Amino acid sequence: MAGVEQPGVLVTGASQGIGKAIVMRLADEGHSVLGVSRSKPEFPDTAQSASVSRIHWTPLDLSQMTGVEQYVASLEPVAIRALILSAVDYGEGGRHPASMTLAAEWQRVITTNLIGHCVLVSLLLPKLVANAPGVVIHVSSDVAVTPAGGRSAYAASKAGLHAMLRAIAAEHPLDRLRVYQLIPTFQTVTNGIRRRRPKDFDFSSYADPALIAEVVDRLLSSSPASVPAGTYLVRRDGTLDWYEEVASV
Ligand SMILES: NC(=O)c1ccc[n+]([C@@H]2O[C@H](COP(=O)([O-])OP(=O)(O)OC[C@H]3O[C@@H](n4cnc5c(N)ncnc54)[C@H](OP(=O)(O)O)[C@@H]3O)[C@@H](O)[C@H]2O)c1
Repeated sequence: MAGVEQPGVLVTGASQGIGKAIVMRLADEGHSVLGVSRSKPEFPDTAQSASVSRIHWTPLDLSQMTGVEQYVASLEPVAIRALILSAVDYGEGGRHPASMTLAAEWQRVITTNLIGHCVLVSLLLPKLVANAPGVVIHVSSDVAVTPAGGRSAYAASKAGLHAMLRAIAAEHPLDRLRVYQLIPTFQTVTNGIRRRRPKDFDFSSYADPALIAEVVDRLLSSSPASVPAGTYLVRRDGTLDWYEEVASV
């Protein structure tokens, strides 16, 4: 891919919401950013042209595995040092019970959020490890680790990806791969969330996606010793609290 001069950071969900905020933040900080999503991100007129020139966007539908494989093949000459997973299909409309979740929704949500990301991550692992320590950051959710009534398809997809990433973390020594999973303890105003709320909803208590982008930037810049790989609760002030996973039974 032309123009990617240093080991790049690949961000899924680049067109809007938290993923787009991450793309912009990392580009502002001088990273070469490879963004993927189905629709093209639009950047504000105020965005610095030097930053925009560091962003390399490619259309990619994570629910289409042939496309995911072809995209990874196109990255053959490109070095990748980090993978940020922020794409999401939240499912149909507002909250609804599992009994009202139809086959098409299960299929779309789990294919996009879980299988698409699993295929992308597994195909890119050799590249990440070649630029050791490679970094994977999943913008996860409380639904991955706590009961999420009314959001069963979304929850199943996030829990599955959470488990897959813990598995690859277990397969690699820390000096080869650092896997972070971030669980925001607050809601963020994004298009995806707006679509799931009533028209007159008051978003004043919701955070700006830039808050998560700042945390991702901090993790990419930190030394492995200062922020050990693992799962973290992200607080509203940007601090990270270690989330103790069950390590064995
Ligand atoms: N917002 C919150 O309050 C909140 C809270 C906790 C956790 N999170 C997590 O934060 C992450 C980002 O959420 P968000 O609210 O920013 O989401 P969002 O506004 O709905 O954006 C979702 C992104 O995913 C992309 N996407 C959706 N389907 C896709 C597909 N089939 N193939 C490729 N890309 C696809 C969309 O791009 P296209 O439509 O252009 O493809 C878009 O860029 C998610 O992992 C979510 O679980 C969010």
